Amino acid sequence: MNTINHGQTDVNAPAYVQNKKLIQWVADIAALTLPDNIHWCDGTQAEYDYFCELMVKAGSFKKLNPTKRKNSFLALSDPQDVARVEDRTFICSAKKEDAGPTNNWVEPSEMRATLKPLFSGCMRGRTMYVVPFSMGPIGSPIAHIGVELSDSPYVAINMRIMTRMGKAVIEQLGADGEFVPCIHTVGKPLAVGEKDVAWPNNPTKYIVHYPETREIWSFGSGYGGNALLGKKCFALRIASTMGRDQGWLAEHMLILGVTTPEGKKYHVAAAFPSACGKTNFSMMIPPKGFEGWKVTTIGDDIAWIKPRKDPVTGKTRLFAINPESGYFGVAPGTNRQTNPNCIDSLNQDVIFTNVALTDDGDVWWEGLTETPPAHLVDWQGKDWTPADGAAGRKAAHPNSRFTMAAINNPAVDPNWDDPQGVPIDAFLFGGRRSTTVPLVSESLDWVEGVYMAATMGSETTAAITGKVGVVRRDPFAMLPFTGYNMSDYFQHWLNLGKKLADEGAVLPKIYCVNWFRKNDQGKFAWPGFGENMRVLTWILGRVAGTSKGKETALGISPEHADMQWAGLDFSLDQFNSVITIGQEDLKAELKLHTELFEQLAHHLPKELLDTRAKIEKRMNA
Ligand code: GTP
Ligand code: SPV
Ligand code: MN
Repeated sequence: MNTINHGQTDVNAPAYVQNKKLIQWVADIAALTLPDNIHWCDGTQAEYDYFCELMVKAGSFKKLNPTKRKNSFLALSDPQDVARVEDRTFICSAKKEDAGPTNNWVEPSEMRATLKPLFSGCMRGRTMYVVPFSMGPIGSPIAHIGVELSDSPYVAINMRIMTRMGKAVIEQLGADGEFVPCIHTVGKPLAVGEKDVAWPNNPTKYIVHYPETREIWSFGSGYGGNALLGKKCFALRIASTMGRDQGWLAEHMLILGVTTPEGKKYHVAAAFPSACGKTNFSMMIPPKGFEGWKVTTIGDDIAWIKPRKDPVTGKTRLFAINPESGYFGVAPGTNRQTNPNCIDSLNQDVIFTNVALTDDGDVWWEGLTETPPAHLVDWQGKDWTPADGAAGRKAAHPNSRFTMAAINNPAVDPNWDDPQGVPIDAFLFGGRRSTTVPLVSESLDWVEGVYMAATMGSETTAAITGKVGVVRRDPFAMLPFTGYNMSDYFQHWLNLGKKLADEGAVLPKIYCVNWFRKNDQGKFAWPGFGENMRVLTWILGRVAGTSKGKETALGISPEHADMQWAGLDFSLDQFNSVITIGQEDLKAELKLHTELFEQLAHHLPKELLDTRAKIEKRMNA
């Protein structure tokens, strides 16, 4: 095969690779997995183009019509490999209690014994790509380096968009820099002469983390968070354990900037579960009635947050960076009305996965246009017409995605890659709840905010394999991403808040939001998308001390008159239907909190039980 062979050592390491540990590790993994070739990724455009060409030749990529989508490609996955596999994801800490009841756990040596035969010879007939990447701007004090070894060129291509990838990272690593080793295989070795398939993968899947040794081993899937190991595996699961040990936070949060008409700038970080609106919210365009306001994107999925003295005020604050450099976003539902900035980002240099193909070489997905094209090739490569759609067959997979660089986004924040990060004014937590949870409420203090986030529930989405639409507790939107015991994670948030408060730090205010209340007809009762600006500006008014609100059992919520409605017809009745919560509903919800706390009893912070008692008391008052 025609890979770029820099040929210097027996693992083909180019001369600029000085890190002996890295070379040795690559040699060890090559000896285990037995690839035909080793390709060290330099991260150049020429290399990217070469990979794309390779994928087109192999039948894994379809080049899209360049007059519609310049330099963009479509990949269709195996129907068995379309989303994160939470039931196949493992946290293998030495002790089970350190993984906690919400993670799958296997004792590390037992897991290593299970994986060894699977990885033995797993890259036969393939090229092993060495993908050096930095999560965060290269050289930033908040950034960390990883190296992914993968037998998937799709992974190498996506990693170049999603992370800072290539030679510069190796140079930053130097002779003895630290990196998180990430090993990935699609788990489909090729026999001599065997023809490859368009999307190789294996029905057996393992997404394994060893938090103590900070290693990631992923087998059998080529899709998203299962395979792009910098994202959920490193930047959330491994990084959350690093944050616990080192006093910072790795969170499933978007980060956005809001500039007021007067030019004052705020920053907000928001945790919503998978496919619950982070990308949308982070790219929001303020609606009618908010002329002069501007929303800019720092990140759409992950935030690394560290305390630091604000050089302006001298007070400690929480600063956040986006460790990624691209967005792996949900396609369905994205259109010019719901997310115009996103639509404008998708014109060039995009990898689409599992969307439908139009007859003129463009892409389509449910919700892109009101009227679907008369004919499509669907995400499984089959003919599709609107009649199929009417019969319930989706043209695009509900978890179909686009991969695009952050700099494609017309609303990208000028400081989006500032190595120092941006100071956070408010944390938002929000699930997908058709009932019970109000549009917005503010927590009375940090501890109650941690309670709100810890007890959050959300209906499951297509971002994970399994059943869609079931309400489950998703603490901090981190249920599938916390690399350690969830109760210890709550404790870490409490400890950090207390420590910072004791130091006189300015802590962000904490809010719970819900864009997804439904009415009696089963339709969304809140218009959402750009209109979420009305909630955001109420929140910023609270931060500034100008918004009014009313205390409820859960916290502080706006009354109709406390929010800005210019440009939207939203009656008091409609407002009440999204903001109020009945006594019986609240009781039922608190019962679910209790169930969660029973599950998490080991190490559960007492403050959370105390908060629960307080809420109950307020409810009965
Ligand atoms: P991950 O990348 O999986 O972590 O998800 P995400 O939180 O970034 O999800 P994204 O913003 O891509 O949203 C996915 C879905 O939520 C799409 O189908 C959107 O149409 C829908 N959505 C986003 N914002 C809103 C909203 O305000 N109201 C309603 N009703 N739907 C929304
Ligand atoms: C999520 O599921 O939360 C995602 C997509 O952001 S994936 O990278 O596949 O995990
Ligand atoms: Mn996510």
